[in-house]
Amino acid sequence: MVVLKSASEIATMREAGRIVARTLAAVADAAVPGASLVELDSLAADLIADLGAKPSFLGYHPSWAPRPYPGVLCLSVNEAVVHGIPTDRVLRDGDVLSIDCGAYIDGYHGDAAVTVGIGGLDPEARRLVETTAAALAAGIESARPGARMGDISHAVQSVARAGGYGLPRGLGGHGIGTKMHEDPSVPNTGRPHRGMVLREGLVIAIEPMLNEGGRDDGRTLSDGWTVVTTDGSRAAHWEHTVAITADGPVVLTTK
Ligand code: MF3
Ligand code: CO
Repeated sequence: MVVLKSASEIATMREAGRIVARTLAAVADAAVPGASLVELDSLAADLIADLGAKPSFLGYHPSWAPRPYPGVLCLSVNEAVVHGIPTDRVLRDGDVLSIDCGAYIDGYHGDAAVTVGIGGLDPEARRLVETTAAALAAGIESARPGARMGDISHAVQSVARAGGYGLPRGLGGHGIGTKMHEDPSVPNTGRPHRGMVLREGLVIAIEPMLNEGGRDDGRTLSDGWTVVTTDGSRAAHWEHTVAITADGPVVLTTK
């Protein structure tokens, strides 16, 4: 069931979004060679608590997962696409790190992700990260009342394909509000002018995940959560929570 949000609900979601954005910025700053994933996760836990919110991911247990999610952040390194669990792994120069964060305050969630380079990135990794960010921007730009879901999906897909990248099937964005995952789903592939008509008050997380090797698949590790590329190539992931308003798309996950 798709739930449209009022202006005051969107204002509350803006608060959740601000907390997510501030947390992502602090974690991105701390993500340097020698930092461990658990260290970044506890930094996020502290910051979200200090800002008066609760982490959305910790303890989340969807029916498809074998166990509750054990971290505050999803930290996905190199060939990990999404849902990487924070371990004691230490980051190294040249790693590609996706940082995904959700926070909950006053009954509403915010959800966003960035991908950053640890130290310096090689040109191919930079192109992957920048193209994924561009795919997100194209999706956001299409999120307007009267457009259709397929317009968002097609915008994301066009940027990804032009770069030669893969889009893992079955992974995509989602509605968001009082629950982190609500209807509708927001696929990263689709056809223009198809799918549900977007209406004012719809709030969605748009989240392109691009595979460097160009394959459209992924597999889940035995930890039950981490999705990796099947060819071992790197992946990048960017996400924003976006409200569809009469004035167009409004990104809620900004500082
Ligand atoms: N941004 C991710 C998503 O929307 C975050 C979910 S992580 C989970 O799927 F651990 F909470 F599932
Ligand atoms: Co999400």
